[in-house]
Amino acid sequence: MTEARSGLDQSRVLLGVTGGVAAYKTPELIRLLAKEGAHVSVVMTRNARRFVTRDALKSVTHGPVLTGLFEAQALGEGPWFEGSPPSTLGMAHIGMAREADLVLVAPATANLLAKLARGLADDLLSTALLATRAPILLAPAMNVAMWEHPAVQENARILRDRGVRFVGPEEGELADGEWGMGRMAPLEAIVEATRDALEAGGMSRRAEAAPPRPQGIAISDQALRGRTIVVTAGGTEEPIDPVRVITNRSSGKMGFALAEEARRMGARVTLITARTSAPAPVGIARTEALTVSAMAGAVREAMRDADALIMAAAVSDFTPGPPSGSKIKRAESGVTLELKATQDILRAVRSEFPKKHLVGFALETGDEERAGREKLERKGLDLIAINNPLKPGAGFGSDQNDVTLIDRSGALERLGLRSKRDVARAILERVARALAGKAAR
Ligand code: CTP
Repeated sequence: MTEARSGLDQSRVLLGVTGGVAAYKTPELIRLLAKEGAHVSVVMTRNARRFVTRDALKSVTHGPVLTGLFEAQALGEGPWFEGSPPSTLGMAHIGMAREADLVLVAPATANLLAKLARGLADDLLSTALLATRAPILLAPAMNVAMWEHPAVQENARILRDRGVRFVGPEEGELADGEWGMGRMAPLEAIVEATRDALEAGGMSRRAEAAPPRPQGIAISDQALRGRTIVVTAGGTEEPIDPVRVITNRSSGKMGFALAEEARRMGARVTLITARTSAPAPVGIARTEALTVSAMAGAVREAMRDADALIMAAAVSDFTPGPPSGSKIKRAESGVTLELKATQDILRAVRSEFPKKHLVGFALETGDEERAGREKLERKGLDLIAINNPLKPGAGFGSDQNDVTLIDRSGALERLGLRSKRDVARAILERVARALAGKAAR
């Protein structure tokens, strides 16, 4: 908790507010950021003023709350953030943008995304976004059809490829009563993403004096920029009849952590999920593939445009074959199910794409190391993450995992018991290093 606070404490956050209904939530967002020690100054667009008043924002921040370029000029040299000295950069929009440790835009409309993607600067916020060298974090909010529009998706992709971070949007009821992807991420998630962005960039005032981050973080924060990573998550379901399935206890947490971390590191992520019980990551589109054969099809299709595959899904080894069309009746003598082996997805991908980077997981309860090495070899993997669900604190549904990594050269690293997010980070750093020398796709 103490470490988690350090990213925001004493940081200077420039909050951009654009004209979406969710703008009414921004005073509370500022309050949450300030509670963690951030100094927040605000630039709101003209339309944002229809959803939240300047007075409401002023009442929760000690920094300026500005809208127009020329209004900012009138403030001369600032100060632009509470406690900071007057700026040495004469132009208001430049001074403000440069002194920020991070620029957060919440809510970010489709219009804001388009302007930033194309480099338009026709008001104080869009100008500051071009003038800043600080990390940018966007919390989009809009109608589902707008979010899914190819133009908006393309703008989001352009921005992501440039290293702009996103938090949300997420699925839910939208302001216009429709249901779908487009709701602004919850305020707590925005605060967490802000903290992460500050810590990752080492940008906060505190971080300047903080000790170096633990091992493995030396790799650039955007090490997967320009890469496409396919991640599978959850447990497959093989139907026996219309109501019964053969499945397993996978929650999807490990795959979701991998998808989130890959995106955080700048990758385009294709997330393919079987049945999951954990909350899905916000803002990452998912393809659902419940059965082994559906997943095999979705993965092989996605791999055409991808650099790497991480098979975190728990894939059924057996299937009863084509399911019965009607519910199997109770029989006093019992029922015998004949199970056939399923297709091994990793092996199939390896034979179709001999050069792509493949990461597998192995769930082992016996001699883990030997079984892991054998699996790495058999499936032609570049890296295998071995875990034992019987270890205390690890495994299905848990937030932690006890993982050992073995790579193609035979090198072994025991990560020990760590959060699934840390495990994801360790795996992706290795993937990033391995891909570093290769041309994309
Ligand atoms: N896997 C796969 N296709 C399958 C089964 C598993 O691609 N039909 C993947 C899993 O997603 C995982 C890795 O292979 O990344 C290892 O899964 P595991 O079930 O441990 O391996 P199996 O080959 O099924 O071997 P075992 O006999 O130990 O079950």
